[in-house]
Amino acid sequence: MTHTHIRIFPDTAALAEAAALYIVGQAQAAVAARGRFTIALSGGSTPKVLYEHLLQGARPSQFPWNRTYVFWSDERAVPLDDPRSNYRMAYETLLQHVPLPKEHMHPMLSNGDDLDSAAQHYERVIQGRVPGMPPRFDLLLLGLGPDGHTGSIFPHSPVIQEQHKLVAATPVAPLEPPVRRITFTAPLINAAAEVLFLVAGVDKAQRLQQVIEGPRQPEALPAQLVAPTDGALIWMLEQGVAQQLSQDTITRYG
Ligand code: 6PG
Repeated sequence: MTHTHIRIFPDTAALAEAAALYIVGQAQAAVAARGRFTIALSGGSTPKVLYEHLLQGARPSQFPWNRTYVFWSDERAVPLDDPRSNYRMAYETLLQHVPLPKEHMHPMLSNGDDLDSAAQHYERVIQGRVPGMPPRFDLLLLGLGPDGHTGSIFPHSPVIQEQHKLVAATPVAPLEPPVRRITFTAPLINAAAEVLFLVAGVDKAQRLQQVIEGPRQPEALPAQLVAPTDGALIWMLEQGVAQQLSQDTITRYG
């Protein structure tokens, strides 16, 4: 069963600050309960603000970095030092500044032509590190694209139908940057204990409303695939993006 929660914040900074504090708490709880914290990061502009807050506002000294294992829920098929790399963004903003053991950092190695092999390799890396069948991440971060995509699962992509692979290569993305990607699939996303969506921007208000309240049509709105089978789905929203949600939805999941 999916436990859905919606939390709304006055602006992106408040959202990022709350998300940072929340993640610190979840990391501490996971380490206390199971001795490790497994998290998958995402790309995009909203997570970037989160990473800045995790570094500055949420007291990194409290974060159990030596028990944390970091993965990426999607990546662009570019070298890791390319400015478009999701790994590079998280590394430069946060990870290079914290005492995370190097061997606990698991970038998606997506450069090169054989993305299917790269995806299979990443699947094995996850299976070797994250307990569960399918592996159950403690926390998985996702964003919502203006077209309804999440991770790198774009509308009408063959990855939407994926039932077996945990990580898959995708065709060239229809949005910037127009490169192929590697992404977690729905079976892996939905095995997570918690999925945290961070969404900001009034330009996405209608799309968010369709994803949360509209009829189910994951081919057009891949974000609707996300529903942890035995976990929490948390939407942290800036108030502009939440403005088309009904009061009923906000009360029900608040
Ligand atoms: C990527 C992301 C992507 C992102 C959304 C939302 O690699 O581009 O992982 O899925 O999360 O497009 O991005 P913003 O937070 O920038 O709106």
